[in-house]
Amino acid sequence: MSLKDDVLGYLEGHREESVSGESLAELFGVSRTAVWKAIKSLRDEGFNIDAGTNRGYRLAPESDILTASGIGQWILPELRDKLVVLDETDSTNNRARELAASGAASGTVVVADRQTAGKGRMGRSFASPSGSGIYMSIVVDPEADMSKGILITTAAAVATAGAVEAVTGISLDIKWVNDLYKDTRKLCGILCEAVTDIETGGIESVVIGIGINFKAQRDAYPPEVLERMGFLYDGQVPEVTRNRLAAEIANRVWTLSKNLDDRSFIEEYRRRSNVIGRDINYISGGVAHPARAVDIDDMGGLVIEEPDGSRRTLSSGEISIRWI
Ligand code: BTN
Repeated sequence: MSLKDDVLGYLEGHREESVSGESLAELFGVSRTAVWKAIKSLRDEGFNIDAGTNRGYRLAPESDILTASGIGQWILPELRDKLVVLDETDSTNNRARELAASGAASGTVVVADRQTAGKGRMGRSFASPSGSGIYMSIVVDPEADMSKGILITTAAAVATAGAVEAVTGISLDIKWVNDLYKDTRKLCGILCEAVTDIETGGIESVVIGIGINFKAQRDAYPPEVLERMGFLYDGQVPEVTRNRLAAEIANRVWTLSKNLDDRSFIEEYRRRSNVIGRDINYISGGVAHPARAVDIDDMGGLVIEEPDGSRRTLSSGEISIRWI
């Protein structure tokens, strides 16, 4: 890491206080001139660094640029050296899959400020403008059999909702399978993709892609998308940075992905579910069928009741809630 990264990391980790150039010089064993130059080049790169009280430095509260040193302040040590932060990419899932296919270890985390071809479920696109969201993908072990496929997805939703609540205090609901909602608006989607071994056909890793609408920047989205969209902060000034939240999500998704056999997270999933007890439509063969969502089973499947009273469990697919 360069001195510039060290200084940035320190400022990210001590956002509430001002630190003098002298203290930074002492901390990193360099001259005050070197610190001054590092601060200058950070400012040139767009970081808003105040000269606070006693001529100390601090990151301005509104400064929210995704960086490896910013996320690195909060991410688990075992993930820190496998963290890739990009200004722009087509899709963090694509980058993570490429890295995994070329041997990157599980625990690799790719975060981007903007995606030019963000992917959603069912072949949809995911709007990913700069400065507004967090777009990230985490490579995890496949845990052998694919019956766990839906569990990974379910666990990722619980881990992400838990991270959001821990860092922002905002409580989110989960719409089966893995959309996160604030009231009736979706503000986070999750797309899990498998990386297969061409020779054996087996699953080498799973990439968990998470997109969160963090801060409303309405002019950055197509109007038809905005109609259904929610944001964590819509009008309010965020009290936390995207760096802090991205790290917490990575930490929780990673930790939970290694403990899928402990099904206690399903209980939290049920508690956060906004579908249990509601009228829904489920899509089968391209047709919407009415039903009532009754429960989530221990494998993350959705138990539904058909209009004739019969019950069945959906283990994949898509539902919509009939709100009224
Ligand atoms: C959905 O709501 O349909 C799933 C959206 C998943 C979006 C995330 S953003 C990070 C990762 N990269 C992608 O291209 N997609 C996922």
